Amino acid sequence: MKIAFSDSLDPKAAALVVVVEEGRKLSPAAQALDAATGGAVARAVKAGRFTGKKNQTLLLHGLGGAGHDLALLVGIGKGLSVQDAEALGGTIQSTLAGSGAKDAAFQFDRGGKDLGALAVAAAEGALLRSYRFDKYRTKEAEDQKPSLKKLVIVTEHAVEAKKAFAVREKVVDGVIFTRDLVSEPPNVLYPESFAERLKELEELGVEVEILGEKQMKKLGMGALLGVGQGSTRESQIVVMQWKGGAKDKAPVALIGKGVTFDTGGISIKPAAGMEDMKWDMGGAGAVAGAMKAIAGRKAKANVVGLVGLVENMPDGNAQRPGDVVTTMSGQTVEVINTDAEGRLVLADVMWYAQDRFKPTAMLDLATLTGAIIIALGHEYAGFFSNDDALAANLSKAGEASGDKVWRMPLGEAYDKQIKSDIADMKNVGSRAGGSITAAQFLQRFVDKTAWAHIDIAGMAWASADSAITPKGGTGFGVRLLDRLIADHYE
Ligand code: BES
Ligand code: MN
Ligand code: ZN
Repeated sequence: MKIAFSDSLDPKAAALVVVVEEGRKLSPAAQALDAATGGAVARAVKAGRFTGKKNQTLLLHGLGGAGHDLALLVGIGKGLSVQDAEALGGTIQSTLAGSGAKDAAFQFDRGGKDLGALAVAAAEGALLRSYRFDKYRTKEAEDQKPSLKKLVIVTEHAVEAKKAFAVREKVVDGVIFTRDLVSEPPNVLYPESFAERLKELEELGVEVEILGEKQMKKLGMGALLGVGQGSTRESQIVVMQWKGGAKDKAPVALIGKGVTFDTGGISIKPAAGMEDMKWDMGGAGAVAGAMKAIAGRKAKANVVGLVGLVENMPDGNAQRPGDVVTTMSGQTVEVINTDAEGRLVLADVMWYAQDRFKPTAMLDLATLTGAIIIALGHEYAGFFSNDDALAANLSKAGEASGDKVWRMPLGEAYDKQIKSDIADMKNVGSRAGGSITAAQFLQRFVDKTAWAHIDIAGMAWASADSAITPKGGTGFGVRLLDRLIADHYE
């Protein structure tokens, strides 16, 4: 879908969108439409339950008079925050997508003080909601496809809004890149094909390097290699460097868990729902999308993204429960459960990142534990950090971006749970505090770097549509990381 901004209304637009405040208060544009249609708008509003509450909609067909086939009234309550405006844009898009209208003009003339910024947010929300992953549909009827191709936001702040939106569009490109990766089926997206897709980022000026198993063996990455051992696909690490900051400035490192399919390995998962484990690369997807966003908007920061790409399969050569592996750090791990594979992958990638790049901060994103879904549901990602300043910045970036994160505890008492009888540690604790013991495991691979681990298992995939996110891959983490970098590392 195309988005544009204009300071004047095109009378030929197929659909006109106007806003209504709580209490059935028509905006000036809504009043003008009412006048042009002989009072039809006010009559329609009076006749039903539409009162102008946030995100309420009323679609009016065949109004006549005003020259638009369709009018959409949207409620804005008593005023809008930036996130409300995003949701408003998403609601407009999804309502009109099924309306038959090909283009729409949105007269955004009420809603809050900073109307320019809200217009940009509405545009971002509409664009995010218009995402579809339809490349594998061959038989969809035309009238089932979204009709809306263009949304023009009519605001007196059109010039500045257009400029600001040009930047936001780059961030949305990053979110879409992540959603595409997360949505791909696991026979199409496996470590090598994933790595190949990341090569695309070179067009934006990102330096992309791919490490294969031979190099990983040389580096001593026994934990990552152990996970991929049962797969016929070769494991990969992809290093993506964006050098937008000062030459001598240490980069921020973003690390992603990229298990392109997680069967559980020999500790195999139950069949029901196993198809979900195609999105066990959501952390790597988010890191890739964040790199695309950062490079796309030419961020003045040094950022390096590293993703560990593996497939966790059962096989005659697969890793066994009881195996002991040696990580790149030199520490040994007793693999009690081959389904706790993400932490094994991250352990080696994180160590490599610190060893090679000496980052100023390191953040890892991973669909790491089912337990984080039990703890926080699908509202917040859980995060863990060894650094209070980084933690505070991350929480704020979460609130500001809409990708919300909630801090969880770390501590000696939890760490005890992963003591092993025969190695330096084991890869699982008990069921109690499962997300925390996973984080404790990761912390054993953090040197003195400021670090945050973000468990996005509850956030990478949505089973239902919401205001700015169609069901499927969400792209969670891209706007969070972009915001953190914009606010603290540029
Ligand atoms: N990829 C899963 C975690 C997961 C579960 C992500 C549900 C998204 C939705 C991870 O590799 C896993 O299997 N974790 C185990 C750990 C356990 C064996 C200690 C889990 O959470 O059950
Ligand atoms: Mn697993
Ligand atoms: Zn997994």
